[in-house]
Amino acid sequence: MVSKTKTYRVLFVCLGNICRSPAAEAIFKVYAERAGLNIDVDSAGTSGWHEGEKADQRMRTTAKERGYTITSLSRPFDSKKDFDSFDLIVPMDGQNYTDLRNMAKTREEADKIQPISQFIQSTGTTFIPDPYYGGNSGFHTVTDLLEEASTQLVSYVETKLEIDRAGS
Ligand code: 4NP
Repeated sequence: MVSKTKTYRVLFVCLGNICRSPAAEAIFKVYAERAGLNIDVDSAGTSGWHEGEKADQRMRTTAKERGYTITSLSRPFDSKKDFDSFDLIVPMDGQNYTDLRNMAKTREEADKIQPISQFIQSTGTTFIPDPYYGGNSGFHTVTDLLEEASTQLVSYVETKLEIDRAGS
């Protein structure tokens, strides 16, 4: 059982934690705050390749143009801490999903991993395409899809918090 003041904790995960998941963190934060949700949001990478770096300049610029400020620094996913610390872990693509599932040691940990696809209704899209090796339009596509997913995620978290409240 959780208390009425529970903070719901969401972690977005991609490969490098410099493009998609830091954008997801910044965008969802805005949507959740607008909805008045009591949340903590963070992001991480399945790799530690860019640990300590700011998000990719192209992602930060596109996000800024669209009204979001990305401030996070890249860090690798920590399976010893993050499964415990977060209520919901959202991988950006199928490979991120598989990598996280392989790190989960219990059913409870595995159940926290919910692919971004379940929050996106756009036809033909089941993941957030990696923009790293492409042109500028890829960063706008990432932003479009993350805005759509954030709307759905707000509803999902509201439902979870209501269930918790009813049970507390
Ligand atoms: P992200 O994008 O997973 O959305 O942060 C990438 C960033 C870096 C690399 C690949 C994808 N990389 O190969 O370094």
